[in-house]
Amino acid sequence: MAIGEIFLGSFFQFLLEKLASMVLNYAQWEGTDTLLHKCEEMLKIINAVLDDAEDKQLDGDHRVKQWLDNVRDLAYDTKDLLDEFEIEAAQVKLGVESSTSKGGVKRKFLSFSQLHSPTFETKLQEIKGRFEDIVNKKAPLSLRENVVDRSHYTNKRLPSTSLSEPQFFGREKEEADILKLLIGEAENVDRTLSIVSIIGMGGVGKTALAQRLYNNDKVSNCFERRAWVCVSDVFDVLDITKTILGSITKEPCKDKDLDRLQSKLKDNLSRKKFLAVLDDVWNVKYEEWTSLLKPFEVGAKGSKIIITTRNNSIVCIKRVSSYFVNVLSKDNCTSMLAYHALRARNFEGHPNFEKAGKRIAEKCKGLPLAAKMLGGLLHNRENPKE
Ligand SMILES: Nc1ncnc2c1ncn2[C@@H]1O[C@H](COP(=O)(O)OP(=O)(O)OP(=O)(O)O)[C@@H](O)[C@H]1O
Ligand SMILES: [Mg+2]
Repeated sequence: MAIGEIFLGSFFQFLLEKLASMVLNYAQWEGTDTLLHKCEEMLKIINAVLDDAEDKQLDGDHRVKQWLDNVRDLAYDTKDLLDEFEIEAAQVKLGVESSTSKGGVKRKFLSFSQLHSPTFETKLQEIKGRFEDIVNKKAPLSLRENVVDRSHYTNKRLPSTSLSEPQFFGREKEEADILKLLIGEAENVDRTLSIVSIIGMGGVGKTALAQRLYNNDKVSNCFERRAWVCVSDVFDVLDITKTILGSITKEPCKDKDLDRLQSKLKDNLSRKKFLAVLDDVWNVKYEEWTSLLKPFEVGAKGSKIIITTRNNSIVCIKRVSSYFVNVLSKDNCTSMLAYHALRARNFEGHPNFEKAGKRIAEKCKGLPLAAKMLGGLLHNRENPKE
C-alpha cells in the first residue's frame, strides 16, 4: 500500500463527506448547491483513480506524480475554502435569523452575495476550474478506476471504548478548555443538563480527546455516574439508552422496551450528576434527541453529555457548547509517528530514520490517524530506504 495513498485517500473521504453534508445543509443557498455539487462530482471522478495513480507514481511515472501533486494541493485548498465558507455562511445565517425574528421579511433563498467576502464566489469558481483542469488532464494518463477497495481502512474503524490511548500526545490546551466547560463553576452555576460537542475532521483525534477527558481524575471525581456509547452511523435511541443503562448499573441489559429502559435509567440518574459520552455521532433528527434526552432531565445540576462529531450542524434541543479540534502540532505529530514506528518519543536515537521520518511526519499534516497508520506500517522496517 502506498504511503501517500493512506492520507490522501482518507483526506478525500473526509472531503467527500464534508461536501455531501454541505450540499444538504446549503441546499437553499442559491447557486451554492450547484457549485458544491459540481466539485463533489469531480472529486468522485478523481477519487476513483487515486489508487492506480499512487501505484503508477511509485513506479516512477513523473507525469502521474505531477498530477497527484496538483490533486493534493487542490484537496487542501478546497478544505480551506470550505472551512472559510462554513464560517461565513454561519455568520450570515445568524444575521438573517435575527433580522427575521425582529420582524424582517423572511427570505426563502440566501445567496453568495450575502457572504461578507466578495471574493468568495471567485475563489470557488477558481477551485472548480482547477478541478476541471485536473479531471481533463487525467485522460491521457490512462488511470484505471477503483483498482483497490480502500473502504477497509477509511470507513471501517473499530468501535470506540472509554479507555484512553496508552501514549497520548499534546492537546494540553484542548483538554484544559473542555475540562473548564465540563466542571468549571462559572459554566455550571445554574444549568442542569448541557451538551459539549467536540467537532473536527475524521481522524483528527476527537474520540482520543474525549477518552482522555472521560478518564481525567477531576472528571471522575466530579461526576457520580459516567457512561460511554459508541454511536457511529445509526443513532438508535433504544440501543443508546440500553448501553448507557448497562454501563451505569454495570449489568448487561437485554430489555427491548424503550419505556421500561427509560424509566429505569431515569431512576438511576435521579438527582445524580452524570456524564454521558456519545462518540461519533453523524446525524440526529430533532425527535430522536427529544426522545433520548427524556430520562436525563432528572439529573443533578452540572450534568453533561459530550458528543464527538464531524458534522458541525447537528440538530440538538439543548444548549450546546461547540469545541473545534484542529490538527496536532508538527512536533506532536512527529512524536506520534516515531512512537508507532519505533516505540520512541522522537527520532533522535534513530539517526538513520530521522530525515525520512521527519518528512513522512510532515506529510501527515498533523492528522493523528495518518501518523498512527503510517507508523504502524513502518514498524519493524529496518532499511531506511523502505
Ligand atoms: N493526541 C493523540 N495522542 C495519541 N494518539 C492519538 C491522539 N489523537 C488521536 N490519536 C489516535 O489517532 C487515531 C485517530 O484518532 P480518533 O479516533 O480520536 O479520531 P476522530 O477524530 O475521533 O476520528 P473519527 O471522526 O473518524 O471518529 C486513534 O487511533 C487515536 O487513538
Ligand atoms: Mg471518533
